[in-house]
Formats: sequence, structure tokens, C-alpha cells
Amino acid sequence: MSTQTQQRSGDRTAGGGGETLTVTDNRTGQTYEVEITDGTVRAMDFRQIKVSEDDFGLMTYDPAYTNTASCRSAITYIDGAAGVLEHRGYSIEQLCEHSNYLEVAYLLIHGELPTREQLESWTHEITIHTFVHENIKSFMQGFRYDAHPMGMLLAAVGGLSTFYPDAMQVKDAELRHIQIIRLLAKMPTLAAFAFRHNMGQPYVYPDNDLSYPGNFLSMMYKMTELKYEPDPRLERALDVLFILHADHEQNASTSSVRAVGSTQVDPYSSVAAGVAALYGPLHGGANEQALRMLNRIGTIENIPDFLEGVKRGDERLMGFGHRVYKNYDPRARVIKKHLDEVFEVMGKSPLLEIAVELEKRALDDDYFTSRKLYPNVDFYSGLLYEALRLPTEMFPVMFAIGRTSGWIAQWLEMIQDSEQKIARPRQIYTGERERTYVPVDQR
Ligand code: SDX
Repeated sequence: MSTQTQQRSGDRTAGGGGETLTVTDNRTGQTYEVEITDGTVRAMDFRQIKVSEDDFGLMTYDPAYTNTASCRSAITYIDGAAGVLEHRGYSIEQLCEHSNYLEVAYLLIHGELPTREQLESWTHEITIHTFVHENIKSFMQGFRYDAHPMGMLLAAVGGLSTFYPDAMQVKDAELRHIQIIRLLAKMPTLAAFAFRHNMGQPYVYPDNDLSYPGNFLSMMYKMTELKYEPDPRLERALDVLFILHADHEQNASTSSVRAVGSTQVDPYSSVAAGVAALYGPLHGGANEQALRMLNRIGTIENIPDFLEGVKRGDERLMGFGHRVYKNYDPRARVIKKHLDEVFEVMGKSPLLEIAVELEKRALDDDYFTSRKLYPNVDFYSGLLYEALRLPTEMFPVMFAIGRTSGWIAQWLEMIQDSEQKIARPRQIYTGERERTYVPVDQR
């Protein structure tokens, strides 16, 4: 029962203020009554509104789905105005304070926090599935040395589907479970292999003695030492970063996973669609662009001219603005808090003071506040990744590792939702009609 329904349970007489909408079609004078449920009306209820029997009926038009709910979901709740983010009812601040990434992944996917026994079994299953088939390794070695790691990850995740053909049986709960374990376990391995490929260094195999973030650091940075020993402060900072990126309701990449998954293709191919969408500079690629932007600004003195350029439309203030948050992104606040811990180990970034001053100037400027443009998760995450000595190209890859748990949870919810079927939007046709073919020498 949604809050909206509880707040407005009035009588249901037409126009009597009940949970209905009364619509008059002025073309025919006809009046229709449409149910309001959870603050929405069903688009299909408008198809009855016609001007004649053979009329297709009204459709709704919503480019980029700016005001369209595509599903019912119980995974993540966002209040954009208040800057609230909750996963299965737990605030992101609490989860970052008390939980770890694999526990949050369990919460997102199973709906409840695990018991100690469930968490130990979940963690063990994921730990022993971190290896990838050697063919995947040779597949990745086929890329150019300077291939963008997000492009490599995109291809490798899609390629995983060819190793597990039974993953297509998406209605089989047991087979779904093992694919979910494999995806969570192998995403960091594929990401680290892509990084090592770019660095021209040998790939490092998983170390099952280490934690999820610790193993990732080992696969990324282990050199000639017999055993890599991650700094616990970096391990914790990485774990929090993965939690912060875990899920974010129906963002572009999650919607892509749901749409591709609605064809009942395997979860690897569905998640590969999410990686592709996240690659874009307006989405997960924003953290890479935000750091490049800070480097381009270079000094605090250059900030006023830069902001004037943004207002002229020369470029966007990367890491600012959000379709849902019209307030400070709560994730940006948490990241900013963890920056000091990482800088303590790795040394402070000179870009931090530019970022802090840039945020201050932007939030003092009506151009940005009037458009509700506040820092989002990508504004400070790049500084953290840079402090971890990650190249900027790896920033969206880090985002993808964390978001894998959310993509899987949303994919699973879609598969099990009896209301869902293959996603297939309609269109408003604006092209020519019934033309006669003209032979090429008469054109
Ligand atoms: C993520 O959806 C999610 O939940 C995404 C995400 C997740 O966890 O999955 O939160 C992760 O993708 C965060 C967003 C990262 N992207 C960036 O930081 C790129 C820069 N920001 C944007 O391009 C933009 O703000 C979006 C894409 C994030 C949101 O765009 P909207 O909601 O479609 O808003 P819009 O493009 O219609 O802009 C509204 C106005 C416009 O001005 P006017 O034309 O009305 O004058 O605000 C302006 C835009 O020009 N604007 C910006 C701006 N973002 C919007 N102007 C300058 N800099 C910006 N960053």
C-alpha cells in the first residue's frame, strides 16, 4: 500500500475526489473515468478514448520516459527533493556505516539482510567463483593494449554468456542463482584483467583469502610480492564505493538491463546492456569526465571563467545535476566523508581544493541552483578513484562493479513480475506514407 493510496482514500464516485481521474475528450464531448493507483494512471486506460470505432485510441507520449513508471519495484526508494536514498528500506548512510558490499548485494537481491550463516555461505559461494575461463583471458588479450577498459568489460561480460548456455533458462531458480553468483564474483576479475591489459602487466588471479574489495585490489596492484596485503583503509573505502554505486532504481543502465532482460535472454547479455548504457558520459562515464574537467580547470583562479563557459552552454558541469535528485545527492556526501581516509593513505589530491571551491561557487550561483544542479555521485567519486591511483578510464568500470548487484536485483524482480512482458514502446510516426519507388536513373 503506497503512501499516496493511504493519504487519499476518499470515496470513488466520479469527480467525487476518489482515486480516479475524470477526462473529457473535447473532440467528442465524451467523459471517461480513469483509476489513479499509487499516484499513477495506466497508459492503457487512455486507449479507450477514440473519435471513431476504427480509431487506435490515445497513447501517451513521453520521450526519455521523464514521467513514466515502467515497473513496480521494492528495491530502491529515492526522494529526489529531500535527497533520500534507501535500499529495501535501509538508508544509504546506515548501509555505508554498518554493512559491506556483499551484504548489501544480498539485501538488494533477496530483499532482507542475511543471517550470519546466510552471509557466510553467500560470501563463500562468490569467493570460489571469482576465476574466469582461460579462454576469456585470451579473448581479452586480443584487444589493443590501449582499448578503453569499459569497452573490454562490455565485451567480456557479454562473452560470459557463451560459457554458460543454461543461463538462458531464466525461469529456473537454481540456474538463475548460479549465474547471479558468477556475475557478482567475476565482474571484479574482468575489470582487473582490463586494467592490467592497459598497463601491459600480467593478469593477477583471484586470491580467495582476501575480502571482495581486498581481492580486487590484489588483482589490480599485485606485482612481484608473494602475497598482496591490502591496506584496510583502502579496502573499506572501496567497499563503501561499491555500496554507494549498488543500485539507483530505474536509471538508464538499469532500464536497459530490464528492457533487454524482458526478451528472456540470459542475465550476462542483459547486464552487458547495462554496461553499455553506463559507458555513456551522461551516466556512468560522468565520473571520468568530471575528473578530466577538474584537470582542465587546473587552478582555483580559472573557476569563474569555466563557470561562465558552462552558462554559455560551451559544456556541462560534469558531476552536477540529476534527473531525480533536485537536492544534494546523498551519495556525494558520503564519498566526500571518505575522501580524507583515502588521502591519509595515498596523499591528498591537488584537485580536491578545486572541486570543493567549484562546488561552493556553483551552489552560490543562481544559474545552477535555479536548475536544481547539485553535486551527484560522480562529482567526488573520481577524486577517490584517482587517489587509489586508478586511471580515469577505469572510473566507469568501478561504477559497473558496484552496480552489478543492482542490475541483477532489478533483472530478477522483472523476471518474477507477472505484470511484465517483452518491452516494446510505440511511436508517433512522422515520416512519409505510400510513396512509389523511383528507379535510380530517374532520381
Ligand atoms: C548518474 O539516473 C540515475 O540515477 C543516474 C545515476 C545512477 O546512480 O544510476 O545517479 C548516475 O548518471 C549521475 C549523473 C551523472 N551525469 C553527469 O554528471 C553529467 C552532467 N549532468 C547532466 O548532463 C544532467 O544533469 C543529467 C543527464 C544527469 C540529467 O539531465 P536531465 O534530467 O535530462 O536534465 P536536462 O538535461 O533536461 O537539464 C535541465 C537543465 C538544462 O538547462 P536548460 O536547457 O533548461 O536551460 O539543466 C541544465 C540543462 O542544460 N543542466 C546542466 C547540467 N545538467 C543539466 N547545465 C550544466 N551542467 C550540468 N551538469
